[in-house]
Amino acid sequence: MAEIELVPMGLRTRYCGALRASDIGQEVSVCGWVASRREHGEHLAFIDVRDHTGVVQCVVDGAHDLRSEFVVRMTGTVRQRPEGTVNPNLPTGEVEIGDVEVEVLNPAEPPPFPVSDRVEADESIRLRHRYVDLRRDRMQRNLRLRGRVTSAIRQSMESHGFVDIGTPMLTAATPEGARDFVVPARLKPGSFYVLPQSPQLFKQLLMVAGFDRYYQLATCMRDEDLRADRQFEFVQLDAEMSFATPADVQSVISDSVARATEAAVGETPPEIGRILWVDAMERFGSDKPDMRFGMELIELTDVFEQTGFNAFKAPSIKAIRVEGGGDFTRSRLDELTDKAKQWGAAGLVWIRVKDDTLESPSAMFLSAEEIESVRTRTQAQAGDLLLMVAGELRVSRHVLGLLRMHLGAPPVSEGGFHFTWVDEFPLFDGFDDEGRPQAAHHLFTMPHPDDLELLETDPLAVRAQAYDLVVNGWELGSGSVRVHRADIQQKVFSACGIEPEEAESRFGFLMDAFRYGAPPHAGFAFGIERLVAILAGEDNIREVVAFPKTQSGFDPLTGAPTPIDPRALKELGLKL
Ligand code: AMO
Repeated sequence: MAEIELVPMGLRTRYCGALRASDIGQEVSVCGWVASRREHGEHLAFIDVRDHTGVVQCVVDGAHDLRSEFVVRMTGTVRQRPEGTVNPNLPTGEVEIGDVEVEVLNPAEPPPFPVSDRVEADESIRLRHRYVDLRRDRMQRNLRLRGRVTSAIRQSMESHGFVDIGTPMLTAATPEGARDFVVPARLKPGSFYVLPQSPQLFKQLLMVAGFDRYYQLATCMRDEDLRADRQFEFVQLDAEMSFATPADVQSVISDSVARATEAAVGETPPEIGRILWVDAMERFGSDKPDMRFGMELIELTDVFEQTGFNAFKAPSIKAIRVEGGGDFTRSRLDELTDKAKQWGAAGLVWIRVKDDTLESPSAMFLSAEEIESVRTRTQAQAGDLLLMVAGELRVSRHVLGLLRMHLGAPPVSEGGFHFTWVDEFPLFDGFDDEGRPQAAHHLFTMPHPDDLELLETDPLAVRAQAYDLVVNGWELGSGSVRVHRADIQQKVFSACGIEPEEAESRFGFLMDAFRYGAPPHAGFAFGIERLVAILAGEDNIREVVAFPKTQSGFDPLTGAPTPIDPRALKELGLKL
């Protein structure tokens, strides 16, 4: 993207970070915050003034009362720094502003923590004084990068003919698998609006309405446990296309992600590859495979078909090979075993590979042929460690997938950006507490046409026309071809235990729309915070949100959530 020239206005004639040797001799006014000061005797001080472009040194003669974070305007003449005082690490390091006239625009209390990337302050203090925290280079960099990313995404979507259309914040539930945030309705006591978990149903209605290509940077709200990659409020690039195939949607989204990456870090990622969900699960034990490293899962079930080892009499046995892991201590291996059990395995079999033998508490239960086959199949070399899990297929994949990440994954933003499409998810990924199938994506996803009959008989075997975009082990976004026919939608609802009356009361408006000429359509949404965090090299999305919540959902800045006035409660018809 072309750099936009920043034209100084108002109280300033130049930006602090822009001054160079070519400006020597010019009379300038800069505005900003006192970043640091160094006294030289009673009557001379070097004051570094900071604005968002950088810092410049100002030489102040005479008495003054400038302290950190005072807001100032400095007017003076740009001059060469005396020999020996040039700072090659600073873009403005060759010059200083001399003969300075100081105007204090606003004094300031000492900041609660230094405005410096070199100092780590406590999270709740950072958030309590977020406006100070955001002055730091890291946060300025992150939020400005976020701005470039969203701008590039808009340009990309609009270049493909997508129209930006807003959808309501006060609405009825759009189930995306999380709890809803609700808003009491004053005009209808006892009733509630729900804040959108996504614009899913509205964007489908926009397709029925003939908009053909819709997009939005949509704020979504989900009341779920917060983690490094989750906030209550987040923004999605949300998009929908009519008469489109998954490949069409993926190509548009790939372009917007590529342009966003280019705008953020100056390089376009390689063309985004694709893996089938079933292969991702088989090779990486995960539906969001981190493809930056190997350590793929190795199939061993057939090796132990006739085994005498009870622990391996199981429907699935898989392993990973940890290169050079043969020197893991016993206590480290015990730790890994505990983890495997926490993640659902009955146990973890570990094998240290030696030149001619395999060293393991389980080795004596294995036959010579089994040992030989394990060696060949895993291509184990002396000095390696093998970790093996036996159990249901779901368990062996899941546990080894997590062990693989635990032992092999680099920090999320190292090693380039490995975007990958994961295609053909199943329609359901398990059963809820009441034994009803749970949608892997959401309830509005089109089953594979050949699998419609299985909806009633074997729901977990139904394939979906659904796809995710993953990067470096993170799920960046999800999408699918949608159901656009009322009869199929009702079949999906029924499979999930939602009977016609309930479907009518919750989603009647959608089912109605399907009866008034709904085109086939497909779409996608990805999380802006997740993309920006990865591009900015942050492993918590909080660092790319201006005013985030803490892990416990609290906002130390405003104190939210707070009790409300009893009169307001009464007006809303609420009693606590
Ligand atoms: P899904 O629920 O997978 O799909 O969400 C899409 C993407 O939104 C981001 N995301 C979040 N980011 C931060 N905090 C959260 N709490 C959070 N929850 C989700 C993730 C996720 O991949 N309507 C469908 C999309 C579609 O089918 O078009 C949907 O919302 O990056």
